[in-house]
Amino acid sequence: MVIKDVAKLIVKKFAFEGFNVHPSAIELLKTMDPSELDSVIKSICKNCSSSFIITAEDVKKVLESRLEIRNHSNVKKTEYSNKNKIEPKIKNQSNNQKIQVIKDVSGNSCCQGKIEDFVAYFNSRYDKLATILKKRINPVPISALRKLKSQNVEVIGMVNDVRETNNSCIVELEDKTGLVCAIASGKLKDCATELLGDEVIAVSGLWNGRYLIADRIVFPDVPINGNKKDWGFSIAFISDTHFGSNTFMGEAWQRFVNFMNCEVSDERFEKIAESIKYVIIAGDIVDGVGIYPGQENELEITDIYEQYEFAAEQIEKIPSEVKVIISPGNHDAVRQAEPQPKLPDEFASLFPKNVIHVGNPALITLDGVKVQIYHGRSIDDLITDIPRLSYEKPEEALIELLKRRHLSPQYGKKSPIAPEKEDYLVIEEVPDVLHSGHVHTFGTAFYRGVFVVNSSTWQSQTEFQKKMNLNPMPGIVAVYNGKNVVKLRFAR
Ligand SMILES: [Fe+2]
Repeated sequence: MVIKDVAKLIVKKFAFEGFNVHPSAIELLKTMDPSELDSVIKSICKNCSSSFIITAEDVKKVLESRLEIRNHSNVKKTEYSNKNKIEPKIKNQSNNQKIQVIKDVSGNSCCQGKIEDFVAYFNSRYDKLATILKKRINPVPISALRKLKSQNVEVIGMVNDVRETNNSCIVELEDKTGLVCAIASGKLKDCATELLGDEVIAVSGLWNGRYLIADRIVFPDVPINGNKKDWGFSIAFISDTHFGSNTFMGEAWQRFVNFMNCEVSDERFEKIAESIKYVIIAGDIVDGVGIYPGQENELEITDIYEQYEFAAEQIEKIPSEVKVIISPGNHDAVRQAEPQPKLPDEFASLFPKNVIHVGNPALITLDGVKVQIYHGRSIDDLITDIPRLSYEKPEEALIELLKRRHLSPQYGKKSPIAPEKEDYLVIEEVPDVLHSGHVHTFGTAFYRGVFVVNSSTWQSQTEFQKKMNLNPMPGIVAVYNGKNVVKLRFAR
């Protein structure tokens, strides 16, 4: 951008807020980092609400106070880090932030889509989930049932089919040895009708020589853990920024950026902002190109590379001492099928140094706190197939994923799955947090000690969403410290 254009832009921005601006004030503002211009102009207008013309003095006051806030904020953050110091070495090397990627397909993808890949994939799914279930039940192989007389048994199987009759539900289960039909009736029928194809469960009941009359359906589920303790730092959860879309909510985003930089009027919010060591973004960083028919009419930036350039500029506004973890979604420039690898270097290298890129899903630890990140595409399938779930309460769908210990239980629905030799979508390790996005609605819950958060979006309702009658809840951020959840609204 040429200097003359910057001056014009400054005049235009002040005019939009209802102010004239003196040339000496423009000279001062022109020397600033353009990415900070919006927030500075907003602060000036707020400070000078009774003025008619903005002078150089008005600008100086705001610039000086921002400098003070920043210095103040840096000092406090250093003090905070010292308090939580474990090893001086760690602090010196990485600002006392220890990030580990436990599970991520990035760099490990080896599927070619051959039949044997699918066999290996479903065997991996079955084996992982059966291992969890075997800690609670003592199953017999399905093929062994033929030799048994009428008796109580337990089996583990992958759900092949669910058929509802007047009084019962017939569930076809398959293991590596054979098939069996389990009949669930009475109260168990309701539970059976919510079973999803390809999920792995255990059923106990009476084997009558032909059918298994179920008396219990056991999900892999997560164990109960009610312990909550303050981690001594917070994580901010966001998702679906959709940079590049013409419905991207720039003003709400700027308010979030101001908050992250401790530029807030309320001391309580300042304290929350100071406590944030990590920001996690659960996918759809950019709006992408060619994601749905007619998308080009809803793009502000039509070039994918430029979308990521813009995204990187926006992420750079988050203080550099905060680590930002970015996982992709279905709008990002990686393969559509899950598990998705992290953003390729071509785009990842545009982002500042405090950004860590991971795949989708990714299991990571942040100073020992285990976070399962998943974009959330399977939420669409769950809401379609389980009538009591809704887009208004996405956290309830996430709880169903935890119960099934799988991030995308159904194969062949809206969420495509790549048949990797290992099923990366199984929730093998119980996380402290499950973080998703995708459906652009917000919701949090605690399920058996796991904090479940579906972050919203930074995009207002698109034409596509209008047609689908989807109502986003944009600009809401959850900040969690292991004990307390704070929900902050940045969209007006
Ligand atoms: Fe999205």
